[in-house]
Amino acid sequence: MSIMTFSVLPAQKKSIDQKVDSVLKLMTLDEKIGQMNQYNGDWAATGPITKDGDKQSQIKKGMLGSMLNVTGVDHTRTLQEIAMQSRLKIPLLFGQDVIHGYRTTFPIPLGEAASWDLKAIEQSARIAAIEAAAAGVHWTFAPMVDIARDPRWGRVMEGAGEDTYLGSLIAAARVKGFQGKGLGNTDAVMACAKHFAAYGAAVAGRDYNSVDMSLRQLWETYLPPFKAAADAGAATFMNSFNDLNGIPATGNAYLQRTVLKGNWNFKGFVVSDWGSVGEMINHGFVKDNYEAAMAAANAGSDMDMESRSYIQNLSKLVKEGKVKMAVIDEAVKRILRKKFEMGLFDDPYRFCNTEREKKEWNNPEHIIAAREIAKKSMVLLKNNHQLLPVNKSVQTIALIGPFVKAKSDNLGFWSYDWPDDTTRIVSLWEGVRSKAPAAKMLYAYGCGIKDTSRAGFAEAVAAAIQSDIVIISVGEARDMTGEAKSRSTIQLPGVQEELIKAVAATGKPVVVLISAGRPLVFNWIADNVPAIVYTWWLGTQAGNAIADVLFGDYNPSGKLPISFPRTEGQIPVYYNHYNTGRPAKDENDLNYVSAYTDLPNSPKFPFGYGLSYTQFSYSDIKLNKPTINAKETLTVQTTVTNTGKFDGEETVQLYTRDLFGSVVRPVKELKGFQKIYLKAGESKTVTFDLTADDLRFYTDQLQYIYEPGDFKVFVGGSSADVKEAAFTLVK
Ligand code: NOJ
Repeated sequence: MSIMTFSVLPAQKKSIDQKVDSVLKLMTLDEKIGQMNQYNGDWAATGPITKDGDKQSQIKKGMLGSMLNVTGVDHTRTLQEIAMQSRLKIPLLFGQDVIHGYRTTFPIPLGEAASWDLKAIEQSARIAAIEAAAAGVHWTFAPMVDIARDPRWGRVMEGAGEDTYLGSLIAAARVKGFQGKGLGNTDAVMACAKHFAAYGAAVAGRDYNSVDMSLRQLWETYLPPFKAAADAGAATFMNSFNDLNGIPATGNAYLQRTVLKGNWNFKGFVVSDWGSVGEMINHGFVKDNYEAAMAAANAGSDMDMESRSYIQNLSKLVKEGKVKMAVIDEAVKRILRKKFEMGLFDDPYRFCNTEREKKEWNNPEHIIAAREIAKKSMVLLKNNHQLLPVNKSVQTIALIGPFVKAKSDNLGFWSYDWPDDTTRIVSLWEGVRSKAPAAKMLYAYGCGIKDTSRAGFAEAVAAAIQSDIVIISVGEARDMTGEAKSRSTIQLPGVQEELIKAVAATGKPVVVLISAGRPLVFNWIADNVPAIVYTWWLGTQAGNAIADVLFGDYNPSGKLPISFPRTEGQIPVYYNHYNTGRPAKDENDLNYVSAYTDLPNSPKFPFGYGLSYTQFSYSDIKLNKPTINAKETLTVQTTVTNTGKFDGEETVQLYTRDLFGSVVRPVKELKGFQKIYLKAGESKTVTFDLTADDLRFYTDQLQYIYEPGDFKVFVGGSSADVKEAAFTLVK
């Protein structure tokens, strides 16, 4: 069935814009408003659901443009068939939070970011899109590209961490992955860059909280990943729950009209966040839903997710002249354009192919890819005396803790439960079993993730005593970090740290694995346990991937994409801070300097940090010249040598510091990185090119400029462990 029957010209000869116009001409005002309306389906919910009964008759009347949380070929087909009974037969768009996988669950986005591997990240999004598209989904509400410097914020797990440069590259990689070879291919889903904007800066890390920041900070730190997503072709944007400097993002014309649709020339459409149009009443920005609809539509929010403000008020607003017809037409055109680009007018059922759904349901290549990226995402935080890797001929190994046999907790927040999860998800126990089949494996649960009972400690200690090595696997349950999951304390939950203390007291060599959605605070473990691997939530292949790392079949290469605080009182702690007027000379300096009296300023583990089973040494930096002008290129060279016994991969990081500027600049800013693989004993020279363009920043008048002056350049394996050199930029 095709809408093309309404065309005045033969369909194939018309551009998409002409097609959109010819449909628009046929639409009544109510049908137009219907396109701007999105409801949750009746099967699952990811927000405070409003049950209002008869969605199906609303679809039939053309009062609905899109639905979320409707997946599966059968469900989507059923609803699309109803849309085809509407007067104009405009197909529905089905959106879903496909954040880190659909059927195959990949590591959480923050974990994937630790791989610094853009190809792998793109591939993970690609596979998620293939699986979701095969299940009838047209549109994912991802990537989340919010910069996050506060690990109390539950949504820190969904982004790429604290750095704007890394975050921008990852944003583009994810958009490319989701959209594949382009909209119109049946394995491509529309990406949605969210949450526009600055949601990651919610005060005190409390979800849905306010954001107040300078426009300079907004442009320099928070907007670039959105720009990168737009430039990569993101089909849609989602606005956010927070207010920004007193204006809710959903009613923020500066963000949506001036910046996104104006400066950036974005051609897609903007969907509100769940209920965020109506929530402007709670913000105290508008007095009722009538005003909410007016504010949101006029500010450039094209589609209303679940507020029902548009469907109930826009018609009256247009008739009363409060929202111009042109505003409605523009929004509807943006939405229709995407429906055309997706090919849904040609065939509304093109994502409803049962054979394809079955084929992608258990695609073995996806499972292999999930294991690969899971391996790359882990970060080795500590490995004293080369305790890891474990020898495969180990005789007795104790596996202790609530994560050893965990299944769904490996998936993390924003993942889907399927009936066959018990066989689909590989637990740590199963991963180790297949890696070291001859080893005697002892198991003790120890305690539950959130438990306060120590009843299982004795059994854990007994298992440890009988073993040659102990692996303790602890962390956060999958519902502890995510939307509406902010925590004021981010220690390991329950008595898990006590369990570790009890087991470590046996004197046996202990490796701790931490599965979590955010940086946690675990000082005793960090200071006393010889080996620690941060495994995030790794997804379906968690157990296999962890076993690959534990037994040395994969040499860990992950680097933290976010600083780990020493305590919550230090938050926000991030590497690219300013120097202040009174920087501390060192960690003992308390002489009226910017420091805590009870804590060093540095994080527990810095941005960019991560060990390997081998060691890498860096030569001094070589520059091609000490001074460049605005047209020249500075080449920054360093030779990296693998001085250890294992082959391994290193992420070589380049930072700069602008020493004096018309506005103060961070002590370090990431400007580049390269991943290199070195055999044991091998050396490689790594070259970075820097030009004046890389040294641009926003002035207090928001000009994006570079300024001649003195700079430092740093190269190293973490933001806190670098070689440095100096150069000057002249006019
Ligand atoms: C609210 C979340 O903030 C957003 O990220 C998500 O896409 C929507 N709910 C839909 O589930």
